[in-house]
Amino acid sequence: MVVVAIAGGTGIAGRAVVAEAVRRGFVVRSVSRHVPLEAERIAGVQYLAGDFRSGVGMAVALGGADVLIETLDAKTGSALKALPRTSVAVLAEASRAGIERCVLLTIVNAAECSMGYYQVQAARARSYEAAGMPTSVVYATQFHNLLAGLFSAGSKVGLIPAFTGVSFQPIATADVARILVDEAAWASTDSASFHRSVRAGGPSVWSMKALAEQWKSATSARGLVTPVPLPGAFGTFLRAGKNLAPGAELGAIEFSDWLEAGSFRV
Ligand SMILES: NC(=O)c1ccc[n+]([C@@H]2O[C@H](COP(=O)([O-])OP(=O)(O)OC[C@H]3O[C@@H](n4cnc5c(N)ncnc54)[C@H](OP(=O)(O)O)[C@@H]3O)[C@@H](O)[C@H]2O)c1
Repeated sequence: MVVVAIAGGTGIAGRAVVAEAVRRGFVVRSVSRHVPLEAERIAGVQYLAGDFRSGVGMAVALGGADVLIETLDAKTGSALKALPRTSVAVLAEASRAGIERCVLLTIVNAAECSMGYYQVQAARARSYEAAGMPTSVVYATQFHNLLAGLFSAGSKVGLIPAFTGVSFQPIATADVARILVDEAAWASTDSASFHRSVRAGGPSVWSMKALAEQWKSATSARGLVTPVPLPGAFGTFLRAGKNLAPGAELGAIEFSDWLEAGSFRV
Protein backbone atom coordinates (compact mmCIF):
# COMPACT_ATOMS: atom_id res chain seq x y z
CA MET A 1 0.00 0.00 0.00
CA VAL A 2 1.35 3.41 -1.00
CA VAL A 3 1.59 5.85 1.91
CA VAL A 4 0.92 9.48 0.92
CA ALA A 5 1.90 12.28 3.30
CA ILE A 6 0.10 15.55 2.70
CA ALA A 7 1.93 18.56 4.09
CA GLY A 8 -0.87 21.00 4.91
CA GLY A 9 -3.64 18.40 4.64
CA THR A 10 -5.96 20.55 6.76
CA GLY A 11 -5.90 23.59 4.42
CA ILE A 12 -8.30 24.48 1.60
CA ALA A 13 -6.41 22.57 -1.11
CA GLY A 14 -4.99 20.02 1.36
CA ARG A 15 -8.43 18.83 2.52
CA ALA A 16 -9.40 18.09 -1.09
CA VAL A 17 -6.12 16.21 -1.62
CA VAL A 18 -6.70 14.11 1.50
CA ALA A 19 -10.22 13.24 0.30
CA GLU A 20 -8.98 12.34 -3.21
CA ALA A 21 -6.10 10.19 -1.92
CA VAL A 22 -8.49 8.28 0.38
CA ARG A 23 -10.92 7.79 -2.54
CA ARG A 24 -8.04 6.32 -4.60
CA GLY A 25 -7.20 3.80 -1.90
CA PHE A 26 -3.89 5.22 -0.61
CA VAL A 27 -2.84 5.16 3.03
CA VAL A 28 -3.16 8.85 3.90
CA ARG A 29 -1.35 10.99 6.44
CA SER A 30 -2.15 14.67 6.91
CA VAL A 31 0.62 16.73 8.51
CA SER A 32 0.01 20.24 9.86
CA ARG A 33 0.75 22.19 13.02
CA HIS A 34 -2.81 21.79 14.31
CA VAL A 35 -4.85 18.61 13.96
CA PRO A 36 -8.58 18.98 13.26
CA LEU A 37 -11.35 18.16 15.72
CA GLU A 38 -12.70 14.63 15.54
CA ALA A 39 -15.88 15.82 13.76
CA GLU A 40 -13.86 17.44 10.95
CA ARG A 41 -11.67 14.41 10.22
CA ILE A 42 -12.01 12.07 7.25
CA ALA A 43 -12.37 8.45 8.39
CA GLY A 44 -9.22 6.37 8.02
CA VAL A 45 -6.84 9.34 7.70
CA GLN A 46 -3.94 9.69 10.15
CA TYR A 47 -3.78 13.31 11.32
CA LEU A 48 -0.33 14.11 12.70
CA ALA A 49 0.98 17.32 14.25
CA GLY A 50 4.23 18.59 12.77
CA ASP A 51 5.88 21.88 11.86
CA PHE A 52 7.91 21.88 8.65
CA ARG A 53 9.39 25.29 9.54
CA SER A 54 10.89 24.18 12.87
CA GLY A 55 11.21 20.47 12.06
CA VAL A 56 9.21 19.43 15.15
CA GLY A 57 7.43 16.10 14.67
CA MET A 58 8.89 15.39 11.23
CA ALA A 59 10.55 12.01 11.85
CA VAL A 60 7.25 10.50 13.01
CA ALA A 61 5.14 12.33 10.42
CA LEU A 62 7.18 11.27 7.39
CA GLY A 63 8.71 7.96 8.50
CA GLY A 64 7.56 5.18 6.16
CA ALA A 65 5.80 7.52 3.70
CA ASP A 66 6.34 6.81 -0.02
CA VAL A 67 5.30 10.14 -1.57
CA LEU A 68 4.62 13.65 -0.30
CA ILE A 69 2.26 16.33 -1.59
CA GLU A 70 2.96 19.86 -0.32
CA THR A 71 -0.03 22.18 0.00
CA LEU A 72 1.44 24.42 2.71
CA ASP A 73 0.76 28.13 2.61
CA ALA A 74 1.18 31.34 4.59
CA LYS A 75 -0.56 34.55 3.61
CA THR A 76 1.38 37.29 5.43
CA GLY A 77 4.20 38.20 7.82
CA SER A 78 7.19 36.16 8.91
CA ALA A 79 5.56 32.82 7.98
CA LEU A 80 5.15 34.02 4.37
CA LYS A 81 8.72 35.34 4.29
CA ALA A 82 9.94 31.98 5.62
CA LEU A 83 7.83 29.88 3.25
CA PRO A 84 10.53 29.34 0.57
CA ARG A 85 12.85 28.07 3.35
CA THR A 86 10.01 25.95 4.73
CA SER A 87 9.58 24.30 1.31
CA VAL A 88 13.34 23.59 1.21
CA ALA A 89 12.96 22.03 4.67
CA VAL A 90 10.06 19.88 3.39
CA LEU A 91 12.32 18.52 0.63
CA ALA A 92 15.18 17.86 3.07
CA GLU A 93 12.91 16.05 5.52
CA ALA A 94 11.36 14.03 2.68
CA SER A 95 14.78 13.04 1.38
CA ARG A 96 15.86 11.99 4.89
CA ALA A 97 12.71 9.87 5.19
CA GLY A 98 13.46 8.13 1.87
CA ILE A 99 10.36 9.53 0.14
CA GLU A 100 10.33 8.72 -3.59
CA ARG A 101 8.63 11.82 -5.05
CA CYS A 102 7.56 15.23 -3.73
CA VAL A 103 4.76 17.18 -5.41
CA LEU A 104 4.25 20.93 -4.88
CA LEU A 105 1.13 22.98 -5.54
CA THR A 106 1.78 26.55 -6.64
CA ILE A 107 0.26 29.26 -8.87
CA VAL A 108 0.43 29.59 -12.64
CA ASN A 109 2.99 32.21 -13.82
CA ALA A 110 3.71 33.35 -10.25
CA ALA A 111 7.25 34.34 -11.27
CA GLU A 112 5.75 36.98 -13.58
CA CYS A 113 4.01 38.91 -10.80
CA SER A 114 6.19 41.15 -8.64
CA MET A 115 3.77 40.98 -5.67
CA GLY A 116 5.52 39.46 -2.63
CA TYR A 117 3.10 36.54 -2.18
CA TYR A 118 3.55 35.47 -5.81
CA GLN A 119 7.33 35.81 -5.66
CA VAL A 120 7.32 33.47 -2.64
CA GLN A 121 5.26 30.91 -4.61
CA ALA A 122 7.73 31.15 -7.52
CA ALA A 123 10.72 30.66 -5.22
CA ARG A 124 9.18 27.47 -3.82
CA ALA A 125 8.70 26.09 -7.32
CA ARG A 126 12.37 26.80 -8.15
CA SER A 127 13.45 24.78 -5.09
CA TYR A 128 11.44 21.81 -6.31
CA GLU A 129 12.86 22.13 -9.83
CA ALA A 130 16.41 22.05 -8.43
CA ALA A 131 15.80 19.55 -5.63
CA GLY A 132 18.02 16.71 -6.85
CA MET A 133 15.24 14.20 -6.13
CA PRO A 134 12.13 13.25 -8.14
CA THR A 135 9.65 16.12 -7.94
CA SER A 136 6.56 17.50 -9.65
CA VAL A 137 5.25 21.06 -9.57
CA VAL A 138 1.59 21.72 -10.35
CA TYR A 139 0.96 25.33 -11.40
CA ALA A 140 -2.75 25.95 -10.86
CA THR A 141 -5.03 28.86 -11.73
CA GLN A 142 -7.10 30.58 -9.02
CA PHE A 143 -9.48 28.38 -7.02
CA HIS A 144 -13.26 28.78 -7.10
CA ASN A 145 -12.98 29.36 -3.33
CA LEU A 146 -10.76 32.42 -3.87
CA LEU A 147 -13.29 34.15 -6.13
CA ALA A 148 -16.20 33.22 -3.88
CA GLY A 149 -14.25 34.68 -0.94
CA LEU A 150 -13.64 37.96 -2.79
CA PHE A 151 -17.29 38.27 -3.81
CA SER A 152 -18.51 37.38 -0.33
CA ALA A 153 -16.23 39.94 1.36
CA GLY A 154 -17.37 42.65 -1.07
CA SER A 155 -21.04 41.81 -0.68
CA LYS A 156 -20.81 42.51 3.07
CA VAL A 157 -20.29 46.18 2.18
CA GLY A 158 -22.81 46.08 -0.68
CA LEU A 159 -20.27 45.95 -3.51
CA ILE A 160 -19.45 42.70 -5.36
CA PRO A 161 -16.17 43.51 -7.11
CA ALA A 162 -15.57 42.87 -10.83
CA PHE A 163 -12.03 44.03 -11.62
CA THR A 164 -12.13 45.83 -14.96
CA GLY A 165 -10.43 44.10 -17.88
CA VAL A 166 -9.83 40.95 -15.81
CA SER A 167 -10.79 37.34 -16.57
CA PHE A 168 -10.24 34.14 -14.59
CA GLN A 169 -10.05 30.46 -15.45
CA PRO A 170 -11.01 29.23 -12.00
CA ILE A 171 -10.52 25.64 -10.94
CA ALA A 172 -12.14 23.50 -8.24
CA THR A 173 -9.87 22.17 -5.50
CA ALA A 174 -11.34 18.71 -6.24
CA ASP A 175 -9.84 18.95 -9.76
CA VAL A 176 -6.52 20.25 -8.40
CA ALA A 177 -6.47 17.35 -5.93
CA ARG A 178 -6.97 14.78 -8.71
CA ILE A 179 -4.01 16.25 -10.62
CA LEU A 180 -1.76 16.36 -7.54
CA VAL A 181 -2.55 12.74 -6.63
CA ASP A 182 -1.90 11.72 -10.26
CA GLU A 183 1.55 13.29 -9.94
CA ALA A 184 2.23 11.49 -6.67
CA ALA A 185 1.25 8.22 -8.33
CA TRP A 186 4.09 8.70 -10.86
CA ALA A 187 6.50 7.60 -8.15
CA SER A 188 5.57 3.98 -8.65
CA THR A 189 5.05 4.08 -12.44
CA ASP A 190 7.84 6.21 -13.94
CA SER A 191 10.89 6.78 -11.81
CA ALA A 192 12.73 7.99 -14.94
CA SER A 193 10.78 11.26 -14.97
CA PHE A 194 12.94 13.14 -12.53
CA HIS A 195 11.13 16.45 -12.65
CA ARG A 196 7.64 17.00 -14.01
CA SER A 197 5.87 20.29 -14.50
CA VAL A 198 2.10 20.50 -14.98
CA ARG A 199 -0.10 23.55 -15.67
CA ALA A 200 -3.65 23.12 -14.41
CA GLY A 201 -6.44 25.50 -15.35
CA GLY A 202 -10.20 25.39 -14.97
CA PRO A 203 -12.42 24.30 -17.87
CA SER A 204 -12.98 27.81 -19.29
CA VAL A 205 -12.20 31.51 -19.07
CA TRP A 206 -14.81 33.95 -17.76
CA SER A 207 -14.77 37.70 -17.21
CA MET A 208 -14.74 38.50 -13.49
CA LYS A 209 -18.06 40.31 -14.04
CA ALA A 210 -19.70 37.13 -15.37
CA LEU A 211 -18.34 35.13 -12.41
CA ALA A 212 -19.58 37.79 -9.95
CA GLU A 213 -23.05 37.60 -11.50
CA GLN A 214 -23.04 33.78 -11.30
CA TRP A 215 -22.03 34.00 -7.63
CA LYS A 216 -24.69 36.60 -6.81
CA SER A 217 -27.41 34.58 -8.52
CA ALA A 218 -26.41 31.30 -6.79
CA THR A 219 -26.06 32.79 -3.31
CA SER A 220 -28.84 35.41 -3.47
CA ALA A 221 -26.35 37.68 -1.71
CA ARG A 222 -26.97 41.39 -1.44
CA GLY A 223 -24.80 43.92 -3.23
CA LEU A 224 -24.26 45.36 -6.67
CA VAL A 225 -21.78 43.82 -9.12
CA THR A 226 -19.47 46.82 -9.51
CA PRO A 227 -16.58 47.45 -11.92
CA VAL A 228 -13.43 48.11 -9.86
CA PRO A 229 -10.09 49.18 -11.38
CA LEU A 230 -7.36 47.15 -9.68
CA PRO A 231 -4.11 49.11 -9.37
CA GLY A 232 -0.60 47.75 -8.72
CA ALA A 233 1.39 44.74 -9.79
CA PHE A 234 -1.46 42.29 -9.26
CA GLY A 235 -3.81 44.38 -11.43
CA THR A 236 -1.21 44.51 -14.23
CA PHE A 237 -0.64 40.74 -13.96
CA LEU A 238 -4.37 39.98 -14.15
CA ARG A 239 -5.17 42.40 -17.00
CA ALA A 240 -2.35 40.80 -19.03
CA GLY A 241 -4.11 37.44 -18.58
CA LYS A 242 -1.04 35.93 -16.88
CA ASN A 243 -3.33 34.18 -14.39
CA LEU A 244 -4.76 32.04 -17.20
CA ALA A 245 -3.51 28.67 -18.47
CA PRO A 246 -4.46 28.43 -22.16
CA GLY A 247 -4.19 24.89 -23.48
CA ALA A 248 -4.21 23.45 -19.95
CA GLU A 249 -7.94 23.18 -19.24
CA LEU A 250 -7.46 20.15 -16.96
CA GLY A 251 -10.27 21.05 -14.56
CA ALA A 252 -13.76 19.71 -15.27
CA ILE A 253 -15.87 21.56 -12.70
CA GLU A 254 -17.13 24.99 -13.79
CA PHE A 255 -17.61 27.77 -11.21
CA SER A 256 -21.38 27.57 -11.82
CA ASP A 257 -21.40 23.77 -11.17
CA TRP A 258 -19.39 24.33 -8.00
CA LEU A 259 -21.85 26.98 -6.85
CA GLU A 260 -24.81 24.77 -7.69
CA ALA A 261 -23.31 21.93 -5.61
CA GLY A 262 -23.28 24.34 -2.65
CA SER A 263 -19.50 23.92 -2.19
CA PHE A 264 -19.14 27.61 -1.27
CA ARG A 265 -20.98 26.91 2.00
CA VAL A 266 -18.23 24.56 3.29
N1 LIG B 1 -6.01 30.09 -3.45
C1 LIG B 1 -5.85 29.95 -4.75
O1 LIG B 1 -6.64 30.43 -5.58
C2 LIG B 1 -4.64 29.17 -5.26
C3 LIG B 1 -4.50 28.95 -6.62
C4 LIG B 1 -3.41 28.19 -7.08
C5 LIG B 1 -2.49 27.70 -6.17
N2 LIG B 1 -2.65 27.95 -4.84
C6 LIG B 1 -1.63 27.42 -3.91
O2 LIG B 1 -2.21 26.41 -3.11
C7 LIG B 1 -1.39 26.23 -1.94
C8 LIG B 1 -2.28 25.96 -0.74
O3 LIG B 1 -3.10 27.08 -0.49
P1 LIG B 1 -4.35 26.98 0.49
O4 LIG B 1 -5.13 28.23 0.30
O5 LIG B 1 -5.00 25.65 0.38
O6 LIG B 1 -3.61 27.08 1.91
P2 LIG B 1 -4.27 27.12 3.36
O7 LIG B 1 -5.73 26.87 3.31
O8 LIG B 1 -3.79 28.38 4.03
O9 LIG B 1 -3.60 25.85 4.08
C9 LIG B 1 -2.26 25.84 4.45
C10 LIG B 1 -1.98 24.53 5.19
O10 LIG B 1 -0.60 24.49 5.55
C11 LIG B 1 -0.49 24.17 6.96
N3 LIG B 1 0.77 24.78 7.40
C12 LIG B 1 1.18 26.06 7.24
N4 LIG B 1 2.42 26.22 7.74
C13 LIG B 1 2.81 25.00 8.21
C14 LIG B 1 4.00 24.51 8.82
N5 LIG B 1 5.05 25.31 9.09
N6 LIG B 1 4.08 23.20 9.12
C15 LIG B 1 3.02 22.36 8.91
N7 LIG B 1 1.87 22.77 8.33
C16 LIG B 1 1.77 24.08 7.99
C17 LIG B 1 -1.77 24.73 7.58
O11 LIG B 1 -2.13 24.12 8.79
P3 LIG B 1 -1.62 24.67 10.23
O12 LIG B 1 -1.84 26.15 10.22
O13 LIG B 1 -2.45 23.93 11.24
O14 LIG B 1 -0.19 24.30 10.30
C18 LIG B 1 -2.78 24.34 6.49
O15 LIG B 1 -3.11 22.97 6.62
C19 LIG B 1 -0.54 27.50 -1.83
O16 LIG B 1 0.78 27.20 -2.16
C20 LIG B 1 -1.12 28.43 -2.88
O17 LIG B 1 -0.16 29.24 -3.44
C21 LIG B 1 -3.69 28.66 -4.37
